[in-house]
Order: sequence, then structure tokens, then C-alpha cells
Amino acid sequence: MKPAARRRVQAPLAILRGIAELRQTVARWRCAGQSVGIVPTMGALHAGHLALARRARDECDRVIATIFVNPKQFNQADDLTGYPREEADDAGKLHALGVDLLFAPPVEEIYPEGFATNVSVAALARCLCGATRPGHMDGVATVVTKLLLQSLPDKAYFGEKDYQQLLVVRKMVRDLDIPVAIVGVATVRETDGLALSSRNVLLTAEQRARAPELYRVLRALAEQLEGGAAAGPPLAWGREELVRAGFDPIDYLELRSAPTLEALARADRPARIFAAAWLGQVRLIDNLPVDPGS
Ligand code: PAF
Repeated sequence: MKPAARRRVQAPLAILRGIAELRQTVARWRCAGQSVGIVPTMGALHAGHLALARRARDECDRVIATIFVNPKQFNQADDLTGYPREEADDAGKLHALGVDLLFAPPVEEIYPEGFATNVSVAALARCLCGATRPGHMDGVATVVTKLLLQSLPDKAYFGEKDYQQLLVVRKMVRDLDIPVAIVGVATVRETDGLALSSRNVLLTAEQRARAPELYRVLRALAEQLEGGAAAGPPLAWGREELVRAGFDPIDYLELRSAPTLEALARADRPARIFAAAWLGQVRLIDNLPVDPGS
């Protein structure tokens, strides 16, 4: 029987702000022999987050979602202040899905006065978003380490839209011997291909109409690059297409190894094409696999 099916009545969603209460709740579940899944988020939940929560609910007896807009992973003050915050709506969505607990701590609970530790996953964190947003990936690795150690779950769920983040978290967990399985979940898209993101609500109607061009270009590139063609000319074409669609600047459009993020001149091994580009004040990211075998 699936863990979710074993649960009898759906209790109200508990919202906890403190690490001590979180630990007590998880300890009670553990004593009852229940498995625990966690879905770390920064809130403004969309169908991509809900896919993570649904997967967690299918695979674990108890599901924790976290909402914490992590200041350490923002490198621009106005990006942090403008990040959408919709906790009451989010709580309703999580409750409807059967999530057991929302952990939504205040900043001081996670980073008390004098907090000084930084978790850094070297090479994986320095390229792509790490190169264009200095400190971003260290901020992610630091907060995810803390959330995992605070909750000690069996499984933690992350979306493939943030593929670099997924690899950084996997490596960090392996290197630090944190006993949790990291589960990657496929990107959820709008019908026009735009990857779901909490930032999409910040797009104007005109920008929203242009935004799916990012996915169109990535798909065309994945097709052009599969089978090992030289990446230079297709990537140059892709940049021109993005500029024509109004993306400015383009932070990166790159072909990299899927497991290591090493830069590749051709997709002669499992690869992915990665993009980050701006429409006005909104930075969009996306990535797709490139099949080396076809
Ligand atoms: O993907 C996100 O929303 C964040 O980077 C995460 C994993 C919740 C860490 O703050």
C-alpha cells in the first residue's frame, strides 16, 4: 500500500516557525515508524512545486514543505525585496495536497546574529548561475544543508528546472554524508513551453508573450546538437534568436555535461543545454537534455 493511502484523516496543515518544534514533530513521526519527505521552496507556489509535493506525498508517510525566501542566495537587494510572498495562498495549496507540515521560519531562526558558516560546492557552484550570480549557489547549499539537518528527512525533492541546484545539492549531500535521498523531478511547463517559475508573475503581458521563445530556442538547439554536432555555430544562432525575441542580457547559453557541468564543445556524452536570460527586470532560466546517441 502506498504511504499516502495509509493515512486515515487529513489533519489541518501545521505551520511551524521554529527549529525546535520542527525537530519534535519529526521525532514523533519517526517514533511511529513513519518515513519523511521534504520539499524546500521559497514560496509563491506553482504547479512545479506542487508536482514535487505530490511526488513526496506518494513516496513518504509524512511530507514537510518549507517556505523560506533565503537572503543568502540573492545577490541583488531589489530582487530579494521584490520576490513574491504569498504564504496564506501557499498554505491552502499545500493543505489541499495533503502536505502535513509547513515550516516557514523567520530569517533570524535560520541566520541568527553572528551566523558565519558557508557551504560551498566548488566547481559545480562556480559556473552558470554561480558565475553570473556570485554567492548564489553557496547560499542555496548553505540553506539546504541547514533545512536537511533540521528535519533529517528520508527524501528531499528538487525540480530539474534548477538543474545546477539539483547537482549542487546531490554533491553536497554525498560529500557531507547527510543521510537523505535527493529526488529530481521533471520541469513542469505551461502549454506554450514556458517553464513554471515563481518569477513568471513578474512578467508584463508583452514579456509573457515573448517568454516561451526561450524554450523554443532550447528545443531547436537540443535537436541541432544531438548526435555530437559542433556546438559553436548552433549556440551563436541561439543567442541571435534570443536577442531577436527581446532577451537582454543573456547571462549564458551553454552546452555542458549533464552529470559534471563541464563545458562541452559537442554533445559526445550525456549533456544538457542551459540558458539564463533577462526579459526586462525578470531573469528566466531553463535547460533541456541533449541526447548524444541519436
Ligand atoms: O529552488 C528554490 O526555491 C530554492 O533555491 C531552495 C532550494 C528552496 C533553497 O532556498
